[in-house]
Amino acid sequence: MISHLLLLVAFCILSIQTPSSSASISSDVDGFLSCLSINIPPSLIHTPSSNSYSPLLMSTVQNRRYALPGPTRPLVIVAANETAHVQTTVVCGRRHGVHVRTRSGGHDYEGLSYTSVNHKHFAVLDLAKLRAIHVDATRAEAWVESGATLGELYYAAAAANRTFGFPAGNCPTVGVGGHLSGGGFGALSRKYGLSADNVIDAIVVDAQGRLLNKSTMGKDLFWAIRGGGGESFGVVVSWKVRLVAVPETVTVFGIRRGKNESAVELITKWQAIAPSLPRDLYLRVIVENQQATFISLFLGRCSQLVDTMGAHFPELGMMEQDCQEMSWVKSTVFFFFGTADMPAEALLNRHNEEYYLKVKSDHVEEPMSLDAWESLWSEWLEKPEAAMVMLDPYGGRMASISPSATPFPHRNYMYQLQFYQSWAENGTAAMESRLRWIRGVYEYVEPYVSKNPRSVYVNYRDLDLGTNEVEGNVTSYAKARVWGEKYFKGNFKRLAAVKSKVDPDDFFRNEQSIPPLLPLKYLPVADI
Ligand SMILES: Cc1cc2nc3c(=O)[nH]c(=O)nc-3n(C[C@H](O)[C@H](O)[C@H](O)COP(=O)(O)OP(=O)(O)OC[C@H]3O[C@@H](n4cnc5c(N)ncnc54)[C@H](O)[C@@H]3O)c2cc1C
Ligand SMILES: *[C@@H]1O[C@H](CO)[C@@H](O)[C@H](O)[C@H]1NC(C)=O
Ligand SMILES: *[C@@H]1O[C@H](CO)[C@@H](O)[C@H](O)[C@H]1NC(C)=O
Ligand SMILES: *[C@@H]1O[C@H](CO)[C@@H](O)[C@H](O)[C@H]1NC(C)=O
Ligand SMILES: *[C@@H]1O[C@H](CO)[C@@H](O)[C@H](O)[C@H]1NC(C)=O
Ligand SMILES: *[C@@H]1O[C@H](CO)[C@@H](O)[C@H](O)[C@H]1NC(C)=O
Ligand SMILES: *[C@@H]1O[C@H](CO)[C@@H](O)[C@H](O)[C@H]1NC(C)=O
Repeated sequence: MISHLLLLVAFCILSIQTPSSSASISSDVDGFLSCLSINIPPSLIHTPSSNSYSPLLMSTVQNRRYALPGPTRPLVIVAANETAHVQTTVVCGRRHGVHVRTRSGGHDYEGLSYTSVNHKHFAVLDLAKLRAIHVDATRAEAWVESGATLGELYYAAAAANRTFGFPAGNCPTVGVGGHLSGGGFGALSRKYGLSADNVIDAIVVDAQGRLLNKSTMGKDLFWAIRGGGGESFGVVVSWKVRLVAVPETVTVFGIRRGKNESAVELITKWQAIAPSLPRDLYLRVIVENQQATFISLFLGRCSQLVDTMGAHFPELGMMEQDCQEMSWVKSTVFFFFGTADMPAEALLNRHNEEYYLKVKSDHVEEPMSLDAWESLWSEWLEKPEAAMVMLDPYGGRMASISPSATPFPHRNYMYQLQFYQSWAENGTAAMESRLRWIRGVYEYVEPYVSKNPRSVYVNYRDLDLGTNEVEGNVTSYAKARVWGEKYFKGNFKRLAAVKSKVDPDDFFRNEQSIPPLLPLKYLPVADI
């Protein structure tokens, strides 16, 4: 702590320019770069003129739609390998008017960790080198740095003890930093909640460049970083998480049904069943290529699973032959790769094939009728440009946590409905037909999904919901409510109030960052 204070003092003495974070004041790029170089080795600072810039930029880009050369690229990428580099980047950024975007795993659906559609000048703070994981096996806890991937966390937890798991997403290359910031939903969430529900401490670099932990950051900031979405409140360098108990042997299955095998009837039935199944049983559906696959993780053995499925969902016809028993860590391999025929070390591969992506999502409160599913299937899902559709059940632990306990408010819905459009063809024709399909289906399902607001999970980022506008010197709260209440419902205002306290100048901003809640006198009367 003392050395960090000294660092800040050194900055104050060196300061020759008025600190400013205002977008209207032009950025001093040269000043920023020389400020960085005081504390960060040159080999970690990558400008567009260096050969290392492009490979580093592309290293974790997941959405090729945002990998275009040009002015949307960062001025510089700082590949921090020490916490002090994070502090330096923030302090220098403020001083020289360069906004900083933090990147952990680069999986943001709209590329907001490495591109900008609104701001010309920004730097990327890349945390991929900050990825240490320390498991405390006696306490069943771990400190995990933000640049680690979910796969690395799963692997490390299981390596410490086969009975340790962690509730988080189904894709092992997703970064811990962005994922925990936005919530983190996966196969263990019906049993243990979101990743963010299992965060017990965190180290954050705030907008002043200070290093804070749970006891020094205050309750509000600790609440906001566990689900309020990445970027807005500071840079989370590491997280202390509670590992959860899983049996030594779990069971998975994947059962595929076409339309001629009652797929539509089964999905209709699934809606009423999946959210109220026992918490040890997670049963999702993926519709792709006109087939519905029912995929399950059961925290128990095959024989018990057959009984449970027979009792709750006999129509699916699940049998003993469908079971695959394995360790929990291998089940995470199965969930991503669709097969467990590869070693758990596959989770350590940080490279993921990147595609062009566009994702839109909803929450469902009441089962859609058979007729509605029939029409959705024949009018949309049979098209060649149809997206993958994922139905993920809530219920269980998800529903037993208060909607205001963390910023994630979507606790009481039955399930998530996600349209995941990914394609490999380069070119505007492919892009336009894919985008037209996904925006069309989103309009089509409106009568069947949550309303007032039509709510969306922030980790499934969608810029179609609206983007920020800067008014005066900070992001407009009134404008941001349009998208913000869809992600956070009643928690949006509290997030904005936290932002006012911890980053009133709005240094940490992007197209959908939380705006500061201005004092009431600045708000239009309608808001009060
Ligand atoms: C293939 C794929 C599969 C997915 N599967 C799931 C799933 O099963 N369940 C689920 O819940 N979600 C899933 N997601 C969504 C994923 O959780 C989010 O995109 C998440 O934000 C990605 O985190 P990241 O660190 O990889 O992304 P990044 O792009 O690095 O960051 C995302 C956002 O968080 C900010 N941020 C990143 N690191 C930090 C930090 N350390 N401190 C503060 N802000 C930070 C970034 O600036 C950006 O705004 C999936 C996404 C993809 C592409
Ligand atoms: C960070 O990177 C620099 C430059 O490559 C290297 O000298 C230093 O040892 C690294 N620090 C850590 C903690 O890995
Ligand atoms: C793993 O954890 C279980 C349950 O907490 C404990 O009983 C067991 O001794 C641990 N095993 C090892 C090898 O530490
Ligand atoms: C949090 O930081 C303070 C100040 O550096 C320190 O005294 C305290 O021990 C830390 N708390 C934890 C739980 O690490
Ligand atoms: C359903 O159709 C698929 C191919 O379209 C076929 O392989 C399968 O055998 C059919 N099933 C039934 C029960 O007819
Ligand atoms: C896509 O095609 C365009 C034009 O043919 C080309 O300039 C661009 O580099 C291609 N992009 C990718 C990611 O292949
Ligand atoms: C931003 O604007 C507000 C209200 O006009 C003002 O109080 C504040 O000082 C400004 N902040 C900066 C950094 O200019």
